[in-house]
Amino acid sequence: MTRLMDAKKNSKEDEIELSLRPKFLKEYIGQKELKHNLEIFIGAAKHRNEVLDHTLLYGPPGLGKTTLAYIIANEMKTKVRLINGPSVERPGDLASILSTLDPGEILFIDAIHRLPRVVEEILSSALEDFKLITISGMGENATSIDIPLPPFTLIGATTRAGALSSPLRARFGITEKFNFYSLDESEQIVRRTSKVFKTKISEEAIKLIAARSRGTPRIANRLFRRVRDFANFEHKDEITTVIATKALTALKVDKLGLDDVDIRYLTAIMERFHGGPVGLEAIASSIGEEVMNLEDVYEPYLIQIGLINRTPRGRIATDKAYSHLEKNHGFSLFKS
Ligand code: ADE
Repeated sequence: MTRLMDAKKNSKEDEIELSLRPKFLKEYIGQKELKHNLEIFIGAAKHRNEVLDHTLLYGPPGLGKTTLAYIIANEMKTKVRLINGPSVERPGDLASILSTLDPGEILFIDAIHRLPRVVEEILSSALEDFKLITISGMGENATSIDIPLPPFTLIGATTRAGALSSPLRARFGITEKFNFYSLDESEQIVRRTSKVFKTKISEEAIKLIAARSRGTPRIANRLFRRVRDFANFEHKDEITTVIATKALTALKVDKLGLDDVDIRYLTAIMERFHGGPVGLEAIASSIGEEVMNLEDVYEPYLIQIGLINRTPRGRIATDKAYSHLEKNHGFSLFKS
């Protein structure tokens, strides 16, 4: 079974993804409220000739946070410097990035919740007063030097806003949440991607791909490319319903877009834990996955489509989950 939920690991895929990206807000599909708010904040900042306030974008992976950061830079007519939270290991790494920013530049920190605490602290104070405070020397000889920073905008992206320290969270003037895309929006994404790739595709095939993309553009685009491979392998230039069905069956992407981790997760709740409630740690260790990965990457969609419920006593598989996996409810003393 194909794993659909891998993070952005593959640089070739990253490159393709980049070529697909819309450049302006008006080309960006979905996230209507967020887009509307940003249109106003960007327009107002430009009118005042100021940088945009620091912006925190949060929500499940693959929903277009990075794409939106590039769009903001484009709309603000400025450059963007992209870094990854876990790669900024020491305060000095952050200092060298901040002190070389051009005025007005956007610093995009992906997975900002994974910045080490010491780095997070320095960033918080730098955002507060556009000054970088560095300490040199030890003990009584320690001196602090303030380096003034140019005005810039930090865009932080995270799958878990709650994991940021509150001083850092308080520095963001704009906080926007990403939601899963509706079926109609997912279809628009696939249609747009087919145009970018100049590939003909039937409306029915668009629907098939969109329905399996779990409301996530990154997955819709990946599925589109794999389905196109099946067409091209048969020397066909058009993606028909027949080819799309064949490809999606071969890729073993189920009708709701669940991959093998979702299936093992749900099966574990049903078979090992009698349908729940069961703690996430117990599920994670029984299927050999990380708690954080399940919580940030898998559960939001399973909750959204109503296959699990999160209760104070743990996770519960719903009736819909049982019927989707064609499993019978076991009888348990603990079930109501
Ligand atoms: N690619 C990733 N997210 C997108 C979106 N919301 N609209 C268009 N293309 C996208």
